[in-house]
Formats: sequence, C-alpha cells, structure tokens
Amino acid sequence: MARRMLVAGNWKMHGLGADLGEVTMISMAAEKNRRVDTALCMPATLLHRAAAAAPGFDIGGQDVHPEKGGAHTGEISVDMIKDAGGALTIVGHSERREACGQSDGDIAARAAAALSGGLHVILCVGESLDVREAGNAVERVTSQLKASLPADPDPNRLAIAYEPIWAIGTGKVAGPEEIGEMHSALRGALSESLGAECADKVRILYGGSVNGDNAETIFAVDNVDGALVGGASLSAAKFVPIIEAAS
Ligand code: G3H
Repeated sequence: MARRMLVAGNWKMHGLGADLGEVTMISMAAEKNRRVDTALCMPATLLHRAAAAAPGFDIGGQDVHPEKGGAHTGEISVDMIKDAGGALTIVGHSERREACGQSDGDIAARAAAALSGGLHVILCVGESLDVREAGNAVERVTSQLKASLPADPDPNRLAIAYEPIWAIGTGKVAGPEEIGEMHSALRGALSESLGAECADKVRILYGGSVNGDNAETIFAVDNVDGALVGGASLSAAKFVPIIEAAS
C-alpha cells in the first residue's frame, strides 16, 4: 500500500529561543510540501515556544514517561507534551536506551502510554557496529522491535525508526541494500506481531546521517517511508531539502 512519507527532525540537546526562527522557516516549507508529513521533536524547554512559533505544524518530544505524574526527576509525561502543544514523541532512541538503561519493556510501556494518550509515536530500533560486523544485525533489530512494540497499537499513529547506532551523527550512512534488507525484515516482524493488514500501515523511517545529498537515494529504497533526522534538522537550509526529496 502507499504510505505517506514522514520526515521528522530530532533536535536532541540543541536549540535555544534564538533558534526558533528555524522552526518557523521549516514549518513554512512543510506547508508547501503537503504530500509529506513533517515534524520536529524538540528539547522540553522549547516544546511550547516551538508549537507557538509554528501553528499547525507538528511538534513533538524526544521521550515520554509511562506514568501520568510522580517522583520522576527529569522525565516528562504524555499530558505535559500535549499541554505544551506537542502531537508526537520519540521513544526508544538509542541515546536514551543507553544513557537511561531503558529496556525494551520500558520502551513498550512508554509507547503504549503515548498512544493511549493520543500522541503519535516514533519508536526507534537499531544495532551497534559490533552486532552489524558479527552478522547479527537483522536478528537483533527485529527481536528488539518485537520486544519494544506496545500491544494493539494504532498503526496510523505508530512509526518505526531504524537507526543503526554506527550511522548516527557519524556521517556514515547504511547502504541502500543494508537499509532495504532491514526495512523488509522489520515489515515482516511487524506482520508477525500485528498481522499483515496492520503492519502494512506502519511507517518505517530510516535514521543515521541523512542529509540533502543522500535523502533521495534512501527514500527510493523499498519500505522506506521517511526519515528521522538529527543534525540536518537543526536548520531550514539543511532540513528543507530532505523534506523536498520526500515529496
Ligand atoms: O534521531 C536522529 C538520529 O539519531 C540521527 O541523527 O541525523 O545526526 O545522524 P543524525
């Protein structure tokens, strides 16, 4: 089936109020490329201001806690993201899995809370260089996906981001064959877990050093339904060409 492309940016721990002009410019470019869904996942300090700077454009968080509230220093809840004007959240980014020791079960709980609270979710999976070099990437990443999936997700509000850890922020991009093999395996894993009809609706994004020069090649690969972009999402000059490549 034809799935709409989704190009989402992840600002990670970047961005101050002075950078909100980039959000506005990106949102204006998104308005001109309506065939593509576009979003920016912001640091918590900028969620509200980014939503105000780009009315009608999708702003999201970078993680979310499964509980509604409580003694969880440094965390953010589904309602807090929505209250700030957010429409989506990333869960399971490898930087959060590593820094916070998040297990696949933690991530499934986070994704379930976000979906049941009405947010869209980008659930990240990906292998380390050691795993890739040992020839175990497909097995590891498909297992990680199955263990991180929430039960009965709304496939229209769930996207998977395949992000090989060795390609994140390194300038090394997985080749089209590696991406195609993994995305096809992920589609198969989704089908086994959710059924073919549901799996067919879930978008699978690629993430890892995507830029304006390589986006077109990546988007031409089967089962690539968009991108999760880090560094190149910080400025309109770098992000807009990626949106245009998806159009
Ligand atoms: O969330 C985004 C990914 O980690 C990719 O980051 O585009 O800077 O490699 P990158």
